[in-house]
Amino acid sequence: MADLAGRSLVEPGDFSIEEMEDLFGLAERIETEKGFLRESCRGRVLATLFFEPSTRTRLSFEAAMLRLGGSCLGFAEPGSSSASKGESLADTVRTVACYADAIVMRNPKEGAALLASRYADVPVINAGDGGHHHPTQTLTDLLTIKRLRGKTEGKLQDSFRGLTVGFCGDLKFGRTVHSLAKALSRYPGVRLVFVSPAELKAPEYLTDGILQKAGIAFTETENLEEVMGSLDVLYMTRVQRERFFNEEDYIRLKDSYILNKEKMENAGKDMIILHPLPRVNEIAEELDADPRAAYFKQARYGMFVRMALLASVLGEVKC
Ligand code: NCD
Repeated sequence: MADLAGRSLVEPGDFSIEEMEDLFGLAERIETEKGFLRESCRGRVLATLFFEPSTRTRLSFEAAMLRLGGSCLGFAEPGSSSASKGESLADTVRTVACYADAIVMRNPKEGAALLASRYADVPVINAGDGGHHHPTQTLTDLLTIKRLRGKTEGKLQDSFRGLTVGFCGDLKFGRTVHSLAKALSRYPGVRLVFVSPAELKAPEYLTDGILQKAGIAFTETENLEEVMGSLDVLYMTRVQRERFFNEEDYIRLKDSYILNKEKMENAGKDMIILHPLPRVNEIAEELDADPRAAYFKQARYGMFVRMALLASVLGEVKC
């Protein structure tokens, strides 16, 4: 049984797959056992420092902490923090660590969460650092895939064996893609299919580096229709406007893929559609009623797994 007390989570590899599995087990109990962990974090304080906009991640963390009986403080815009006066991140987190028992941070700079975790003497949870990582979205995604398509028996490493996971959209800047693909590289027998315009391809450090080294089979294409029938999971993503250097490129690429009923005709009857949200145009609303559309379920699993994570790093529960 894992003891995650005091641990930070900067990228998915910080936790072993056994530790993640323990969190999934806790999340499942939170979902199904009424009152489980309900008051476990009473008197504890979570700081949410969001230097970049967020709805789901921040509110999901705050909802998670409140449901555990704890409290939250923080800011949702950098303009309202002392960073706007020129304070360094190291000073901000050292100060906040005097007030809070754990810090959740989103920052546009890659590596910011790692730096924060080195300065704060409380657990730091990365809620997104630029185009780099978003490990709690990955916990959410893995839990959703596991619950809806994974194997429940056998070795943990085999949970996703035989599954083909497609990633579609902005694979260059999408941190949720980078984190999830990296996390999946620890599960042998998974196949990945990357679908994007040439300009938004997954970075080479991920494909030629991590995936190839781990022996994970992957293909890259620009054509979603062509691969649709082979997918068990389709992970759609938004084109990350805020990471583009010019608006013209964004406008040209933003509607590269729009998933609709017609495109779903070739999809398997058990394929699930995931999306970290927010959705812009990538999935037509007509698909929301399709039983394969799992993105709102995914958001709900996200809150349960964040409850499991907070109670664990705060030392209020052993997995
Ligand atoms: C994602 C993010 O912030 O990276 N959103 C989220 O956390 N659910 C995806 C996105 O913004 O496109």
